[in-house]
Amino acid sequence: MVQTRQQAREATPDSRPAVPSEKTTPPRQRKKSNAEILEEEDHVSFGVLDLLRIIGGVAVFTCMLSYFIMGDSYVWGQDKIFRKYWNGVKRTFTKPIYLDEATLALYNGTDLALPIYLSINRTIYDVSEGRNKYGPGGGYSFFAGRDASRAYITGDFKNDLTWDVSGIDEERVQKALGHWVNFFASHDTYTFVGYLVRDPTKAQTEAPEPEPEPEHKPDEL
Ligand code: HEM
Ligand SMILES: *[C@@H]1O[C@H](CO)[C@@H](O)[C@H](O)[C@H]1NC(C)=O
Ligand SMILES: *[C@@H]1O[C@H](CO)[C@@H](O)[C@H](O)[C@H]1NC(C)=O
Repeated sequence: MVQTRQQAREATPDSRPAVPSEKTTPPRQRKKSNAEILEEEDHVSFGVLDLLRIIGGVAVFTCMLSYFIMGDSYVWGQDKIFRKYWNGVKRTFTKPIYLDEATLALYNGTDLALPIYLSINRTIYDVSEGRNKYGPGGGYSFFAGRDASRAYITGDFKNDLTWDVSGIDEERVQKALGHWVNFFASHDTYTFVGYLVRDPTKAQTEAPEPEPEPEHKPDEL
């Protein structure tokens, strides 16, 4: 016959034999009656940790299911969103590196051992994932290895390959440059690297300020 726990508790309120050994062995703790043990077992405490365990288990299961169904994605094909989010997390823990213009120029895609970097508004991104666009022969290779902020605004990819945006209407700068600043900052495969500075050895202490150089120097190309 199957007994419910309730029945078991009622049927055996104190069926244990009285403890005779109480004198020989010092009573550390009074032995619990069956009823008490059953009572305790019924009081399962459900804590935050258990909740986290369940959420974690469900997450792992969902990812596995996604992988079996989609074949190539753990997040139901939403990899872009998750990568973007992950990039944001990574950025907050990435120690920025500081490069001067001469060093940044090495990262133009010519040296296959190096990643491809570009800078916009003095913030450097790794755009290696866009090698077909920024690498040698790519349609936008002139953006690689330098800060051509001005050209992102004017579209003059011959004369305006410089960071110097002086002389352009402030509102236009914010709008046009802001668009591309935002594009790179929120891209899912391009990642934050650091800042373009005049002197990398002093960079940790000084803010990445634009260098006060003479008028926008047209790039001789
Ligand atoms: C101010 C003018 C422009 C700027 C600053 C600009 C900038 C850019 C940049 C930075 C990319 C690369 C995006 C990436 O990394 O995925 C790009 C891609 C592209 N742009 Fe432009 N662009 C401009 C004008 C134009 C115009 C006028 C056209 C049309 C003829 C055009 C056609 C394209 C195409 C087709 C791509 C995609 C290339 C690819 O994915 O392989 N762009 N643009
Ligand atoms: C990249 O930079 C190197 C060294 O500065 C230079 O020799 C090379 O021509 C550049 N390549 C492109 C595609 O601009
Ligand atoms: C460029 O960076 C400066 C700070 O260095 C910031 O004040 C400005 O808003 C940025 N411009 C754009 C278009 O994001």
